[in-house]
Amino acid sequence: MSAASGVDPMTGEVVDPLPVTLPDIRAAALAKVPAAVRDFLEGGAGDESTLHRNTEGFARWDLLPRVMSGRTPPSTATEFMGLPLDLPLLTAPFGADALFHPEGQTAVARANASAGVRSIVPEAGSFSLEEVAAAAPAAIGLAQLHPMGPPENFALMLARIERAGYRGVCVTVDCPTGGWRERMMRTPLDFEDRIIAANYAEPGALDHQEVFGQLFDHTETSVWDWELLAGLMDRSPLPWMAKGILTVDDAERAIAAGASAVLVSNHGGRQLDGAPTALEQLPDIAEAVGSRAQIALDSGIRRGADIVKALALGADVVVLGRLAVYGLTAAGEAGVRQVHRLLHDEIRTILTLLGRGGVRELRRDAVRRARW
Ligand SMILES: Cc1cc2nc3c(=O)[nH]c(=O)nc-3n(C[C@H](O)[C@H](O)[C@H](O)COP(=O)(O)O)c2cc1C
Repeated sequence: MSAASGVDPMTGEVVDPLPVTLPDIRAAALAKVPAAVRDFLEGGAGDESTLHRNTEGFARWDLLPRVMSGRTPPSTATEFMGLPLDLPLLTAPFGADALFHPEGQTAVARANASAGVRSIVPEAGSFSLEEVAAAAPAAIGLAQLHPMGPPENFALMLARIERAGYRGVCVTVDCPTGGWRERMMRTPLDFEDRIIAANYAEPGALDHQEVFGQLFDHTETSVWDWELLAGLMDRSPLPWMAKGILTVDDAERAIAAGASAVLVSNHGGRQLDGAPTALEQLPDIAEAVGSRAQIALDSGIRRGADIVKALALGADVVVLGRLAVYGLTAAGEAGVRQVHRLLHDEIRTILTLLGRGGVRELRRDAVRRARW
């Protein structure tokens, strides 16, 4: 991968040098946005205890070196839901993406294409599923849907996803309503126009409030359950992943409903404060269902070491949430490319020090619960 550059790859213009570490990319991103956007991005639900544990939890696992293994250079390549990946990751569906950069998910998709990884494109995005697919066909991965609003709308969206060439669907099952986010009560954001509604912008389409009503109105009821979802997904030829699984029971229900992958996630601490971290739940879920479904993990990934630990504990890939948003906010496409480059180089360094020949060789014996 190319080194950090001070030239915008799209325009050829000389731009500020890119931050050279992931924490610096986060700092640059947070310095650029207004307080309300920062709170929307950084905030979690309730007291944010789950949010904080998400990042702190990775330090509770040690990495166990294996020296003199003669296993270099290691490979970062893998496969997930039939998609070849040069890095063991996909980027998360984060909605309202134009709040962070005017090119939003189209810039993320282009960066993903150049790094050999794929996007999960959000339903509540600032660009339609078709626009993101057209921006970087090589990054087409999964399209994300909320089981929310009228089931007919979900069926229409599925048909659009198939037509646009997506390779699978990511169904966010942990959002029957929006989380209790106090930062957003203090500094509310106005989600008008296309910010979260590009998929609902055409004449004749449903109003996005009709679809996402439950997210905004905590008193609205939902008709959605596994049976309704399974009935709709059965009609699609695409494989699907259930996003937002935290227990073995729910992983079993998702697989019984037809999911071929589960994304172990607490939604970046944004939904249920007090929920366990994805990392804590991962080993049990991987042991119970890992032979029947592929496993992804998100919530708290901030550097390559976190990815290595998640893979050693049973994940096949990780999903980058805020880390991808930081890159996008700091420097658009070039910022997300920089995130990928740094993750690639850090993962390779760690694999070498662990004496493992590639990410696919990571097993439980590469980690140990910290004893300090
Ligand atoms: C700004 C922002 C917007 C998000 N929007 C969505 C969304 O529309 N749909 C969804 O399923 N998840 C959404 N998420 C959750 C992410 O997909 C992912 O689960 C989470 O960010 C992972 O945690 P992390 O940020 O700690 O890595 C959003 C997250 C952020 C930070």
